[in-house]
Amino acid sequence: MPFVRAVTKATGQVLLTTGCGCEPFSASARSISISPRQVMSDASFHSVSFSEADHPKVLITGGLGQLGVGLAKLLRKRFGKNNVILSDIRKPPNHVYHSGPFMYSDVLDYKNLREIVVNNRITWIVHYSALLSAVGEANVTLARDVNITGLHNVLDVAAEHGVRLFIPSTIGAFGPTSPRDSTPDLCIQRPRTIYGVSKVHAELMGEYYHHRYGLDFRCLRYPGIISADSQPGGGTTDYAVQMFHDAVKTGKFVCNLKPDTRLPMMFIDDCLRATLEVMDIPAEMLTMRTYNINAMSFSPEELACEVQKHMPDLQITYDIDPVRQAIADSWPKKFEDNNARKDWGWKHEYNLPELVQAMLNFISLDSRAANAN
Ligand SMILES: NC(=O)c1ccc[n+]([C@@H]2O[C@H](COP(=O)([O-])OP(=O)(O)OC[C@H]3O[C@@H](n4cnc5c(N)ncnc54)[C@H](O)[C@@H]3O)[C@@H](O)[C@H]2O)c1
Repeated sequence: MPFVRAVTKATGQVLLTTGCGCEPFSASARSISISPRQVMSDASFHSVSFSEADHPKVLITGGLGQLGVGLAKLLRKRFGKNNVILSDIRKPPNHVYHSGPFMYSDVLDYKNLREIVVNNRITWIVHYSALLSAVGEANVTLARDVNITGLHNVLDVAAEHGVRLFIPSTIGAFGPTSPRDSTPDLCIQRPRTIYGVSKVHAELMGEYYHHRYGLDFRCLRYPGIISADSQPGGGTTDYAVQMFHDAVKTGKFVCNLKPDTRLPMMFIDDCLRATLEVMDIPAEMLTMRTYNINAMSFSPEELACEVQKHMPDLQITYDIDPVRQAIADSWPKKFEDNNARKDWGWKHEYNLPELVQAMLNFISLDSRAANAN
């Protein structure tokens, strides 16, 4: 993704073209002769090495959360075990540590990030580190640091080293004044959580760096993600994952959202496949840099009803958490993702019945294995 610089003597302007399919633009020579942290860009070096190789070299930040380990597994299958580095500030469990390269990386430490990118010739970053909605509200200062200062570090490192950068956004990037019943890609975004504010900031900064520095920024707004083998990290949609675990373990579930709270949701396999697809496609196919992706929408009572088809004795009670309920009430009920479907062929595979079947299969197998041990 090189910056190709051609100084036009007559105008004193610099023409920038990027290797990522975006339009060339002009800016004053003074303003673009440096990359974001005053470090000369080595984008062209990395771009050449990337096109010569068959596969990217990927760094996943915040990789020990709900989504990172699954994504690493998918990417390693495709690009090779040693070409995908998981990183986090926590100690990895044994099975993760032995499944491929792992490194300590705090996204608040810019030099450490830069060292990892340079030493490992990273060509793609998937930036997963974040504090999610509910935990973010409980610690706004830390959420602001990780989600905003950490983001700035990642953006700068990626822009300076010609790295393709994926940052997930969320349904939480919308707010009570957004159209909630079918939320399009482009509409008013006035979220009321530090998580949402930081994600709108990430969308805008990524798009700004794309236009300003040619950063190959790609972003999907994920719905609430449902997974069986990894625990959610403190989001408002976590109840849906917990319902399955409690159903299998105790046959009872106490829900912290009202029964009719509808939110967009997606099974993890669809989410991870979408992430790989949007990172993999040629830049020319992207008419936008931030896309909604959708699969299904359901409320706690609808999910419970579907689970009860398999487990008729499951008992659901409600004990509403006002913080989570207020967050959920400000979020989209349904996501519109026509642009992702049109531009790069996004298509989800799991609807509610398939999701419930897949979750129960996995969790029942897992608990049978645990009982046998
Ligand atoms: N899970 C969902 O339902 C969902 C929905 C929409 C968007 N997303 C986005 O996807 C990404 C991954 O989500 P997740 O559910 O895996 O999150 P998670 O909370 O489970 O994991 C986040 C990880 O970030 C790490 N982290 C925290 N501070 C860090 C720091 N200073 N440096 C490096 N790492 C740090 C944590 O240790 C944790 O392992 C996030 O950006 C999130 O906003 C998730």
